[in-house]
Amino acid sequence: MDSQPDFHAAKALLEWQLELGATEAIGDAPVNRYELAGREPAPRATGRLEPRASPPVIGKAEDPVAAARAAAEAAGDLAALRAAMADFEHCELKRGARNLVFADGDPAARVMILGEAPGRDEDRQGLPFVGRAGRLLDRMLEAIGLARHAEACGKSVYISNVLPWRPPQNRDPKPEEIAMLLPFVERHVTLVAPEIVVLMGNISCQAGMGQRGITRLRGHWAQAYGKPALPMFHPAYLLRNPAAKREAWADLLELQARLRENMK
Ligand code: URA
Repeated sequence: MDSQPDFHAAKALLEWQLELGATEAIGDAPVNRYELAGREPAPRATGRLEPRASPPVIGKAEDPVAAARAAAEAAGDLAALRAAMADFEHCELKRGARNLVFADGDPAARVMILGEAPGRDEDRQGLPFVGRAGRLLDRMLEAIGLARHAEACGKSVYISNVLPWRPPQNRDPKPEEIAMLLPFVERHVTLVAPEIVVLMGNISCQAGMGQRGITRLRGHWAQAYGKPALPMFHPAYLLRNPAAKREAWADLLELQARLRENMK
């Protein structure tokens, strides 16, 4: 267990203290001001006020979506896109996250899988789908002969998420967070140029197709990011609802059939 609260928990604690009326910051050890007298001239007494370092400007005045679009479009390859996302300062989630979770797998893959957002394990390791849901995803892919880093040509997949930073307490991403980070996802898909995109779960469908309702959408081919897209149940949902694995299996077979068909 972590002994340090994360960014969002620490912020909530501070806000709670403010509500209680603790409006002045003090040190965690007592300071004897009499002893300091004479040694530490007060700024007012000297009449010289040192200029205060201004807080870092993180471009709040700029439209975050426009900023994301400009940064994403300027990225000419995946390394540049990753760097542009790492430099993006408009998303509050970044401040609470340990790592940017960019992608895993083979950028030359025929299939690009898009999940929702990193969870705790992904945040720690900086890689998508490495927790329980990720292990299930790997088994699902294996069942149809695919893997993140397959040796056989055409058998690997590329995996990323709609959000590259973990939301606090794994809450659902907010619509404005999805909208802000969407230009990066769009550019990501353009640069990878997969044959097929798999949309895992509602958030991924919301971002890629502007629609939710995974129970209705799953298993039906659609278009997302200008590519044929297959919505599927999210593996985390399958862990909670094992009975839905039957439908997930049907969708995997559908994906496999489409990949075979495209090879003809
Ligand atoms: N769930 C997701 O949608 N993505 C991950 O990377 C991990 C869990």
